[in-house]
Amino acid sequence: MRKKIVAGNWKMNLDYAEGISLFSEIVNMVRDEKQGEQLAIICAPSIHLNSLAKLGGNTVSIGAQNCHQKESGAYTGEISAKMIKSVGCEYVIIGHSERRQYFAENNELLAEKTIIALQNGLTPIFCIGETLDERNNGSYFEVLKSQLEESIFGLSAEDFGKIVIAYEPVWAIGTGLTATSEQAQEVHAFIRKEIAGKYDSVVADNTSILYGGSCNPKNAGELFAQTDIDGGLIGGASLKSRDFVDIVKTFNA
Ligand code: 13P
Repeated sequence: MRKKIVAGNWKMNLDYAEGISLFSEIVNMVRDEKQGEQLAIICAPSIHLNSLAKLGGNTVSIGAQNCHQKESGAYTGEISAKMIKSVGCEYVIIGHSERRQYFAENNELLAEKTIIALQNGLTPIFCIGETLDERNNGSYFEVLKSQLEESIFGLSAEDFGKIVIAYEPVWAIGTGLTATSEQAQEVHAFIRKEIAGKYDSVVADNTSILYGGSCNPKNAGELFAQTDIDGGLIGGASLKSRDFVDIVKTFNA
C-alpha cells in the first residue's frame, strides 16, 4: 500500500525563531489531532533542519528543499545530501519548479541529485509539472513524460520504489489557481500509467504521487479523494499551523 503524505514546503520563509515556533505548534497539533496513517512532513530552509529534526520526533518528519548533486567538495555555499541526512532529515525535495526556473536546474542535473539523495538514505520528493503555456497548448503530457524519462526513469525498480513524486502544475503554484480535482486526477493517472509502463504495475501502485499548487483546507478533501492522489505538497498553507494541520487531517474526513 502506498503512503499518504502531506508535506509542507516553507520555501525561503521564516527566520530561525519563527520556524521553531511554527514547527512546535504544528507538532503539538498533529500529535493531538491526527488520526490514521498519513505522514506529516515539513521541508524547511537548511538553517532550521537540525533543530526541527530533534523537535519532530515520530510526529512530524523533516525534509530539505534541495541538495547538491556531488557527495562533497569545493562547492562554496552548497549543502550535501550527507549533511542533510546527518542532522536527522529523511526527505529532500528535488526538482521543484522554482529550482528549475530560477536556478536553471535541468532534468539531467536532477537525475544526479536524485541518485545522491538515495545513496545517502534520503527519500526524494521529486517534483514535475507543466507551465501555463504547456497546459494551454496541450503539450503537458509530453512535458511531464520527458521530465520523468530524463530524470528518474533511469533508476532501478528498487530505487524508484523509494521515491515520492509530486505533481505541481507551475500555473497553480502560489497563484490561488488550484488544478481542479479532475485535472489533477487525469495527470496523476497518467503518471501512474507511465510508471507501470516503465517498471510494472506493482511499482506504479506503490508510488505515492502528491499534488501541489494552491492546495488549502477547503480544496484538499476533494483532491485527496481522487484515486491516484496520495496527498499534497503544500506551500503557502504550510506557513499557518491551523491550515497545515487541517490539510493533514483531511485524510480522516
Ligand atoms: P502553494 O501551495 O503556495 O501554491 O505552493 C505549492 C508549492 O510550490 C509546494 O512545493
